[in-house]
Amino acid sequence: MSKKKIGVLTSGGDCAGLNATLRAVTHAGVRSGYEIIGIEDGTAGLLGDTPRYRILTPNMMDTIVMRQGGTILGTTNKGDPFKFLMPDGSIKNRSEEIIANLNSLNLDALIGIGGDGSMAILRKLATQGNINLIGIPKTIDNDLGKTENSVGFETAVWTATEALDRLQPTAASHDRVMILEVMGRDAGHIALNSGIAGGADIILIPEIPYNFDSVNKRIIDIREKEGRNFVLIIISEAIKTVDGSDVLTSKDSENQKRYGGVGHYISERITEDTGFETRVTVLGHIQRGCPPIPMDRLIASAFGVKAIELVKQQKFDRMVAWSEREVIDVPISEAIASYQDVDINATMVKTARALGICFGD
Ligand code: F6P
Repeated sequence: MSKKKIGVLTSGGDCAGLNATLRAVTHAGVRSGYEIIGIEDGTAGLLGDTPRYRILTPNMMDTIVMRQGGTILGTTNKGDPFKFLMPDGSIKNRSEEIIANLNSLNLDALIGIGGDGSMAILRKLATQGNINLIGIPKTIDNDLGKTENSVGFETAVWTATEALDRLQPTAASHDRVMILEVMGRDAGHIALNSGIAGGADIILIPEIPYNFDSVNKRIIDIREKEGRNFVLIIISEAIKTVDGSDVLTSKDSENQKRYGGVGHYISERITEDTGFETRVTVLGHIQRGCPPIPMDRLIASAFGVKAIELVKQQKFDRMVAWSEREVIDVPISEAIASYQDVDINATMVKTARALGICFGD
């Protein structure tokens, strides 16, 4: 009798902890008698005449791999199979091609490691193709619902906090206003958490519209009333002004919004309005491509093990989730239906305000 098989793929933007997750899936899966099929490049590895995959073994998925950023399987955050952009510019539904390739692998279950966009696409494919799907949440944005934490978030916060630790002495040495721009798309979790941990004076997040009067006033107060010679500002890439506009957003090859660079706009305005010397660091993909910090390795390990348990219990269409120091499982539909941005009435925003941190409102 042939071995039972579990497919696993990483989908969407990479982050720290994906390899640790793959390692956990492989070790727990093989110990439970499954063969683990690692599908390459997310759903892109399921396009074409034959699927692209490699068999993952415990030997291959060792602790060296666990320490590494990125994903050894590769991933993609482009190419929605339901409206795939073809080279000639036309849009094609390629879902049946992907389902046929998945069926050819004779999988008992598919484990999809992804964020909200990937989770929605994988669930649609699973429903259409009658595929037994389990989701594992990963995203530095930490915006997926029904889980307190996703793989990659803690490392991104750590990286941004370390950046503030490095920016503070140089800001103080040169009497400067330092701006750190971080990722996160429409959710300000990275900026909020690392802003508090890294001692920022001003935190701008998409959930709280900012205005320059408030930002400038805080800078001037710090410099002239409180007598401190430097100011640290952290801003999330998709911040919006009070009139609701986000600035400097470009489009990628698939016409999706691409953020990055708003820090320069803010910097120019601050210098113009206050006369203070300002510098900008755009942290970018440094937040994604580094070794996972311990918390991400722990979450990744616990998620991978739980995903295999769910397969063994035949409990499908579920996403593993982090809740009160435990791994639980929730319906994938509920996770993707409840986008989790920053709750501006919750502990962290209140904590920041009580510390005198300005949100630009
Ligand atoms: O969703 C993760 C994320 O890193 C966002 O925070 C960011 O806006 C986006 O992906 C960047 O995508 P790309 O790698 O395509 O530039």
